Amino acid sequence: MKHLTSLFDLTTSEVHSILDRAARLKAAWRKGVREPLCAGRVLTQIFEKPSLRTRVSFEAAMMQLGGSAVFMTAKEAGLEGREQHDDIAKVVGGYSDVIVLRTFAQSLIETFVEHAGKPVVNGLSDDYHPCQALTDVLTLQEHFGDVAGRTLAYIGDGNNVAKSLVLVCAHVGMRCTIGAPEGFQLSEEFLAQVRQQFPQAQLEQFSNAQDAAADADALYTDVWASMGQEEEKEQRAQIFRDFQVNTALLNVAKPQAAFMHCLPARRGLEVTDNVMSSPNSIVFPQAENRMHLAKGLFAWLLEQ
Ligand code: CP
Ligand code: NVA
Repeated sequence: MKHLTSLFDLTTSEVHSILDRAARLKAAWRKGVREPLCAGRVLTQIFEKPSLRTRVSFEAAMMQLGGSAVFMTAKEAGLEGREQHDDIAKVVGGYSDVIVLRTFAQSLIETFVEHAGKPVVNGLSDDYHPCQALTDVLTLQEHFGDVAGRTLAYIGDGNNVAKSLVLVCAHVGMRCTIGAPEGFQLSEEFLAQVRQQFPQAQLEQFSNAQDAAADADALYTDVWASMGQEEEKEQRAQIFRDFQVNTALLNVAKPQAAFMHCLPARRGLEVTDNVMSSPNSIVFPQAENRMHLAKGLFAWLLEQ
């Protein structure tokens, strides 16, 4: 049984296999071909947090592949106290071919892996956002061709997206630099775990944005306050104010560096409006690619 709970789960050859399938399915889709690879399959999504891209891209992907999709909030599914989580996992597993979860705790995803008996995908947890990071490499491959040896600079909070980017870069041989304020950087424990699994990983963390952005091929940022951290919004806006991706920071990166953001973006905070709208910005093709990556992921998860 295959699952995607974090990018620690996958071998590098599995990462390439998902990316290749996604690229092939996208090329076919562009020609109007929608092969019913998932005919009769049911995707169930249960989300504890809001979503635009993840929810819709997974639904669209499943439907374009000939399957159907069911969506429930955590409350509707009974996760907020109506029923034991392992019981819910067993019941949902009985109805579904794939389950996508968006959670606070990573442990809820592990509970479903243990009890659902069907492939489980992390559609964002407090710890990881693997489908986003795989999508980001798909997008970079389209933009640059071969990505090995390129540098991705992540500027901002050392969060779920940052951790997943570090891991995906390690898988595909990209250098990854992180620029984050002290106290909001990736933990030594996480970095040690990455270095243990990927001894060749090129990974550097800085406590300022400029050193991380220097000569980067792509600059990436995410919100300063993630879902669940809304109460820290004001405080974080102060702490992160020197970590905005603006024209001055873009100028530190390589000429024509790509600008990426998982979205939703808070224009005027982590990124300026002019960088979001600049010719460097590939944020909307990046968002569309969530659907193409989802198809590659389904094809990989459900293959016999
Ligand atoms: N990038 C992303 O996961 O967006 P949503 O929160 O809208 O799903
Ligand atoms: N780090 C953000 C990503 C949103 C897609 C969050 O967890 O809210």
